[in-house]
Amino acid sequence: MIPISEQELQLLHQYVYDYCGIALNKKKHLVEGRLYKLLREEGFNSYSSYYNYLLNDKSGAVIKAVIDQISTNHTFFMRENKHFSIFKDQVLPHLKATVKNRDLRIWSAGCSSGEEPYTLAMIIADFFAEDKAIWDKRILATDISIRALEKAKAGMYNTDEMKSLPENWRLSYFNKIDTNKYQVNDKLKKEIIFRRFNLMDKEFPFKKKFHVIFCRNVMIYFDNATKNDIINRFYDYTEPGGYLFIGHSEALNRSDTNYKYVMPAVYRKG
Ligand SMILES: C[S@@+](CC[C@H](N)C(=O)[O-])C[C@H]1O[C@@H](n2cnc3c(N)ncnc32)[C@H](O)[C@@H]1O
Repeated sequence: MIPISEQELQLLHQYVYDYCGIALNKKKHLVEGRLYKLLREEGFNSYSSYYNYLLNDKSGAVIKAVIDQISTNHTFFMRENKHFSIFKDQVLPHLKATVKNRDLRIWSAGCSSGEEPYTLAMIIADFFAEDKAIWDKRILATDISIRALEKAKAGMYNTDEMKSLPENWRLSYFNKIDTNKYQVNDKLKKEIIFRRFNLMDKEFPFKKKFHVIFCRNVMIYFDNATKNDIINRFYDYTEPGGYLFIGHSEALNRSDTNYKYVMPAVYRKG
């Protein structure tokens, strides 16, 4: 273990916070535990020298490696399952009846290792079973962590990670790799576009607005100002009548947003 001083922690915190909104100022043990290996691999024995290396890195590779270590990517299939029921029973029927040009746009922002967008893709595939060929229903799934996105793109999950999925989904949307592993099949993979995207980027690079945005258990790590700023940009990128799903512990203040409250952790653009 390489100890980090309070001053080193504050410098690193400010850099990471400005870059991606994740606060490390009270996370001394997390930083020491998770960044230790990176320092050793790169041959540094102090956080000050590693910090200078980070500052001088023009390629962006060093901050990406840091983010891969310090971001919390914990997720699982069917997380906050009530959201998926609402999506299937209320949101999709409404969108099917109202969306123009059969061009459905769903964004899973902070998708981590893919369980959330794959769950959405399976619900959508079942829902549009008859009409699937005539709808463009690909999901955009983004995250800042390259490591999490690599796992998402591979779509490989062990039986324990899959235990909450219904048997018919396992049979329809996964290939069995061995006794303990399944992989999302190519047909379902094609329904998701995985991209690296930092929610702190001031400009969202999307040409069209979304009918539904899922950003669950991501803003929990951000302070209120950052969270409100991102929510406002989500609002601008939501189609009128479109939905925002956030994590259950991340409620919005009515006075901070133009979204209308629908039910806990579900909001709608009027
Ligand atoms: C706890 S996971 C949530 C995954 C999934 N949405 C869920 O609810 O289970 C949070 C994810 O947010 C991502 N994240 C954190 N800061 C981010 C940022 N500034 N831009 C994009 N993604 C970010 C992390 O890399 C991580 O994969």
